[in-house]
Amino acid sequence: MSETITKQETATREVLKIVVVGHVDHGKSTLIGRLLYDTESLPEGAIDKVKRISKETGKPFEYAYLLDAFEEEQKQGITIDTTSLQFHTKKRDYVIIDAPGHVEFLKNMISGAANAEAALLMVDAKEGIQEQSKRHGYILSLLGIRKVYVVINKMDLVDYSQERYEEIKSGMQDFLNKLHIFPLKFIPVSAVNGENIASKSDKMPWYNDQPILEAIDEFEKDKELVNKPLRFPIQDVYKFDDRRIIAGRIETGVLHVGDEIVIQPGNKSTHVKSVAYWAPRDQTDNVSAGMSVGITVEDEFFNCRGEVISHRSSQPLVGDAFDVNLFWMGKKPLTVGATYKLKLATQETMCEIAEIKHVVDTNTLGTAEDVQSVGTNGVAEVTLKTKTPVVFDLFKNNHAMGRFVLVDGYDVSGGGIVSGEAEGALVHSVFSGGGRRLEVTLFDEFFYAPEDRQVFKNVTHVSVFSEEDILPVKGKTYAYPRDFDLTDVPSGLAARVRGGKLESLLPLDEYAYAGLPVLTASGLAVRISSAEDWENYRKTAQTTGVDIVALCTKWMDFGTYHTICFGRV
Ligand code: GTP
Ligand code: MG
Repeated sequence: MSETITKQETATREVLKIVVVGHVDHGKSTLIGRLLYDTESLPEGAIDKVKRISKETGKPFEYAYLLDAFEEEQKQGITIDTTSLQFHTKKRDYVIIDAPGHVEFLKNMISGAANAEAALLMVDAKEGIQEQSKRHGYILSLLGIRKVYVVINKMDLVDYSQERYEEIKSGMQDFLNKLHIFPLKFIPVSAVNGENIASKSDKMPWYNDQPILEAIDEFEKDKELVNKPLRFPIQDVYKFDDRRIIAGRIETGVLHVGDEIVIQPGNKSTHVKSVAYWAPRDQTDNVSAGMSVGITVEDEFFNCRGEVISHRSSQPLVGDAFDVNLFWMGKKPLTVGATYKLKLATQETMCEIAEIKHVVDTNTLGTAEDVQSVGTNGVAEVTLKTKTPVVFDLFKNNHAMGRFVLVDGYDVSGGGIVSGEAEGALVHSVFSGGGRRLEVTLFDEFFYAPEDRQVFKNVTHVSVFSEEDILPVKGKTYAYPRDFDLTDVPSGLAARVRGGKLESLLPLDEYAYAGLPVLTASGLAVRISSAEDWENYRKTAQTTGVDIVALCTKWMDFGTYHTICFGRV
């Protein structure tokens, strides 16, 4: 089985879906038109046709009109739908979505019909950041799209000014960081003139990163479903002879005979005894994501539909309150205190709307707080309280376990994604993974306020970072390498950061010095350059009653990754 999967994988090219968002007229369609043009993905004659029409009508040539050429093709029943267009680079295929009506886009994204993994957020260099630029940023955060490039377009209208680029970059960064979006790149372009689209522009020699077509190849695809932690929601339990067969579909991960598994809610532990099969040729010892299977286990508890099987080291969350972003389709408004049936994976339970935090009007994309109801087609950030504990994941970590529908009577009235555990306001950022949590302060910023003659600390980017999450490794007053190890002796935990992302959180006992920079949880560099250093440092730091100032003086350095800016917090 695994062999056939590998074969298929190599035969099909990787596809990445990107959505393009941004304020009206900031150049979304033009950029897409240009990308299609530069990758020679346009239908034959499209360019000539648009040229001819613009000549006939006396209007200037517009790349955006090229998208209409696709629309026409579609009318003749030849290709794709209007809003998603395809092109490819050497590396892979792309589906690019020109964010259509907000309502449709949001609905499709939340329901899973459109699964954009990455986004280009466009800002007009001349007009600067507009209301809609911010709203679209907010929508991306709502949908859990974290892989974002900000494209600063129409650089030709500002004489390719680096100063203007920096100004917009800094403004967008401030805004998006508050939403826990840390853009991976800020790319200055002129979509119309093709500057920094297919090749690096000589008009902007100060920009030393990639043009768009190269940059998008750097977007990392989400992990394949089989490589994610095991999630096996139980659909049914059948009694055959004296055996109980647990049946369901493996949503993510791999399950082997002999594995120790945990069944939640209830925290029951057992081992996999066998994988059921119909014909002997189907006999197998391991099953993986996407397969519908039946298994038997060593200790037969009274298992039932709705429970979720995972491995102990990487379990889902279990709780009766969580924060969600939902799209409401009900005819009656959704109200605080109302109860609905929640369906998540194979679970069903009643839930109450505990709090409505924000409502987004999908027509204007305006947000409102202090509201008690959400109308049809409204999007809202809501806290749900369920009658019985639910097993779930945050949507960003696991789509199948982080997506749900709400049923009012007999009608599916809303759909949503789990955005967070309801746990009150965080004071510090947290690294989370493998069932462990580590409070970190390495993203705090330090400022010197001349008027007060004092140094202040600004606690920024407060967020829970899970494994795979992009980290804000570069701030205003700090810059960390993209690969480093973070060790925290007091809590006995270590974190591996690789490629600017949180790779894993592990017990210090399992940590070995890897030759990479070692930092503390507050971002201090630890002076370690060998495994021996590490052992010495660890021993000293673990000593009870250790003099913390002496420890820091000997082992740590503030200035390696930090500076102190002028300013006032
Ligand atoms: P909506 O779909 O209406 O939200 O707009 P849009 O974001 O798709 O913008 P569109 O691509 O239609 O571009 C709007 C206008 O800006 C068009 O007249 C484009 O020719 C112009 N434009 C786009 N990119 C550039 C650019 O790089 N430089 C200049 N000077 N004009 C541009
Ligand atoms: Mg457009």
